[in-house]
Amino acid sequence: MHNDLYAVVGNPISHSKSPRIHSLFASQTGEAVEYTALQAPLADFAGSVHDFFARGGKGLNVTIPFKEEAWRLADCRTERAEKAGAANTLYRDERGKLTADNTDGQGLVQDLTRNHGVTLAKARILLLGAGGAVRGVIGPLLAQHPASLTIANRTVARAEGLVQLFTPDAHGTELSACGFDQPYEPYDLVINGTSASLQGDLPPLSANVIGADTVIYDMMYSLQTTTFNQWALDQGARHVFDGLGMLVEQAAESFRVWRGVRPDTAPVIEELRND
Ligand code: ATR
Repeated sequence: MHNDLYAVVGNPISHSKSPRIHSLFASQTGEAVEYTALQAPLADFAGSVHDFFARGGKGLNVTIPFKEEAWRLADCRTERAEKAGAANTLYRDERGKLTADNTDGQGLVQDLTRNHGVTLAKARILLLGAGGAVRGVIGPLLAQHPASLTIANRTVARAEGLVQLFTPDAHGTELSACGFDQPYEPYDLVINGTSASLQGDLPPLSANVIGADTVIYDMMYSLQTTTFNQWALDQGARHVFDGLGMLVEQAAESFRVWRGVRPDTAPVIEELRND
């Protein structure tokens, strides 16, 4: 019997950890899944997606720089993908329609709450950044009913735009936007969703946002401590996590969407951490 074919599509793609994560999921669950990496030309993402499904492919993960394009290309979208404005998961539904989902926000919430024991209900959260990565996690964070969610960004207008977009989903949460110079008191949780570290930069944030119990979470992941987390440690932060768990959790949620089985993520996170 042939395995069902899945892939992660991006450009560049050679460093992606997704094939390794999904092959660990497949052996753990016994699902007949083959998962590869696919580099799409920058100018023809749509062609690569159509080819893949025409060859009988069952599902795609989508990564940089195609997440917004995947969202636009799809015939229909799940509710969480609709609001995220970007998709990291594609599949054909039972009618054959190309469907877009976004599992990134669920991945972040799972990693925070299940793997790190962070309580989001009633928490005061500071979220740094206002790009695609941040937009994808706001809905799932609000669904946990934090007391407040402050979105701080270099370009304040972008943060304000997100506040406007998500105000209907805020319910009891106090949702606000500001620049990096404004937050000046300790938060329960500070999440870095900027790409500043790609330029070796740091958001210019006051150390006052870090208290003794503040949890720091960098959505980025690297083998060494990330630039942002190193800064937080230097300011005395005691609970500091990177995005490896989020990466594995979003993959597990995609696997569940496709296969109906949610893999156990803990051994996979452990294995990747030791690579
Ligand atoms: P992504 O999909 O990774 O979110 P993006 O949409 O380009 O990519 O957004 C990048 C985010 O990182 C934005 O919030 C950006 O701030 P601006 O909206 O002001 O551009 C933030 N960012 C990028 N480089 C940064 C830097 N050197 N310092 C602070 N913030 C930075």
